[in-house]
Amino acid sequence: MSINKILQGDCLELFKNIPDNSVDMTFADPPFNLKKGYNSYKDSLLFEEYLDWCSLWIAEMVRVTKPTGSIFLHNIPKWLTYYALYLNKAAHFKHWIAWDAPTAPMGKTLQPAHYGILFYTKEEKGSKIYELRMPHKRDRITGRLQKDYGGKKDLLHPFGPLVSDVWSDIHRIKHNSKRDSHPCQLPLHLLDRLILLTTDEGDIVLDPFSGTGTTAISAKRLGRNYIGFELDEKYVEISTEKLSLTRADSILGSSWVSYYLGEVVTLRNNDWSNLIDYFDVPYPAKAIDTMKSRLKNHAQMNLSDFDAERETSDLQEQLLSGVAAVNVR
Ligand SMILES: C[S@@+](CC[C@H](N)C(=O)[O-])C[C@H]1O[C@@H](n2cnc3c(N)ncnc32)[C@H](O)[C@@H]1O
Repeated sequence: MSINKILQGDCLELFKNIPDNSVDMTFADPPFNLKKGYNSYKDSLLFEEYLDWCSLWIAEMVRVTKPTGSIFLHNIPKWLTYYALYLNKAAHFKHWIAWDAPTAPMGKTLQPAHYGILFYTKEEKGSKIYELRMPHKRDRITGRLQKDYGGKKDLLHPFGPLVSDVWSDIHRIKHNSKRDSHPCQLPLHLLDRLILLTTDEGDIVLDPFSGTGTTAISAKRLGRNYIGFELDEKYVEISTEKLSLTRADSILGSSWVSYYLGEVVTLRNNDWSNLIDYFDVPYPAKAIDTMKSRLKNHAQMNLSDFDAERETSDLQEQLLSGVAAVNVR
């Protein structure tokens, strides 16, 4: 089994080289069958055809995942309801994560406002799962806590609450300067959160629909190993180039963290006692109402925001000249 590579080809073929129970975490962000403008894949199968195809690679994801491992499927709720039927027979339901992000209008009913991420474990017990924390939500102008905790502010965790199953603090990539020439690139810190939730340093993360490599880049910068499959040669080339610019440097002391635009956005609860030294925390405790835990300057210097999107933009333009315009889903 070849690790730390993005392999070009059809995922069902490439899965054949992955032994049973060999991967710590699998994450899939498949084409949604919404007629997106991919470079080579045609995103418009018949209803049954699409679901039959999905059932094949979902079975492969479960097969290759270790007994301690986890399986994540990202899609619009409509398709996830079918995926859950397959997965309920083969794995163990943990959560439906609602990623609060506006999606395309789907007719004249309710306005869809979240993507789902199904979270299953291979076995019912003994799975690796860690508690995570995210920064407190604050008013953008005043910096005050959004929630009114009354007289209990000094009891709050200085960094932030435990992460729930509704994620509204991670925004879709909107600006073309930040995204690759790919219609559905996910934000790195979305993948960071899933990887911190279920894997340790040195574990193997597999993504059968790698696109421009978000999962692999997140895994690499968090000190994990990765395997990516991608049908499209150009997306493989873009991700391989970006991976060559990525370092395993999303770490403070010995604790891996997710970092975005100068801030730690996800950390492990158990790591806080080691990480606290890297932060200026509100003092006295009730000052948390207006003051957040801020990374000290020297800690900020250790972490770097991944900027390879911009560094590789010339390469992408050459590779993808003539490819359908970028759109968002
Ligand atoms: C929704 S995108 C994934 C985007 C990715 N999460 C990212 O952040 O860049 C789905 C990807 O699956 C690829 N794909 C479609 N059919 C495939 C297949 N049979 N095997 C491998 N990759 C495939 C498409 O080319 C597309 O890049």
